[in-house]
Amino acid sequence: MAKTPASRVDKLLSSMGYGSRKEMARLAQAGGITLDGAPLVDVSARIPITPDLPSRLQIEGRALDPIAGMVILLNKPLGMSCSHKEIGPLVYDLLPPRWRRRDPGISTVGRLDKQTSGLLLLTDDGKLLHRIISPKHHVQKTYRATLARPLNGTEGALFASGQLMLEGEDKPLAPAHLDIITETEALISVTEGRYHQVRRMFAATGNHVEALHRQTLGGLALPDDLAPGAWRLLDDTEISLIFQ
Ligand code: URA
Repeated sequence: MAKTPASRVDKLLSSMGYGSRKEMARLAQAGGITLDGAPLVDVSARIPITPDLPSRLQIEGRALDPIAGMVILLNKPLGMSCSHKEIGPLVYDLLPPRWRRRDPGISTVGRLDKQTSGLLLLTDDGKLLHRIISPKHHVQKTYRATLARPLNGTEGALFASGQLMLEGEDKPLAPAHLDIITETEALISVTEGRYHQVRRMFAATGNHVEALHRQTLGGLALPDDLAPGAWRLLDDTEISLIFQ
């Protein structure tokens, strides 16, 4: 059986963004850290990192944040960017501010454009992130696209052909699937994550994407009850749906 990992309390809390080790020592001295309801004063003590730790360890009367290895499902609203390099609101602003200081850090699993909404995952699990975005795993992403002009009827075959070459690229796109909803609305499923891929695919057919919303990632769908800007953690069963 795998050995339960353990960590010094100050190191653990500081890696979760609660503050420096010194600040954690001070907080513990002031009675601000409890384990199973009793004050935990010695932050140099090692503690086993078990799944029930967030319900046992309280910081200033609140349950500990999720421990490393979390996957966040966010309904990305329009107008927020996934890249730290861009100015303006970031999807990270929707999470608790101390999560910005976590180590390992939280990253988006791939990116959605600022003007794309819908299903976005964030995680601090680098291995899982690479498994999801690696083209090797063919995780299918489905988007609802609203178009400026009516579909001309040739798009489905072109996208499925595996021969569509986007401008400035030297490798054709992998086959993608199109489901027409109305003459200006379609579901498009792709397994790659090239830059502005869906917008450029429709641009290659002489059309223009006016709105783009990601609905599914593998077998995981954006739940109807998750409002734009809202997020929640995924459990292991939901994470495994991504690869179905
Ligand atoms: N394709 C795009 O063009 N934009 C996205 O945000 C995602 C896929």
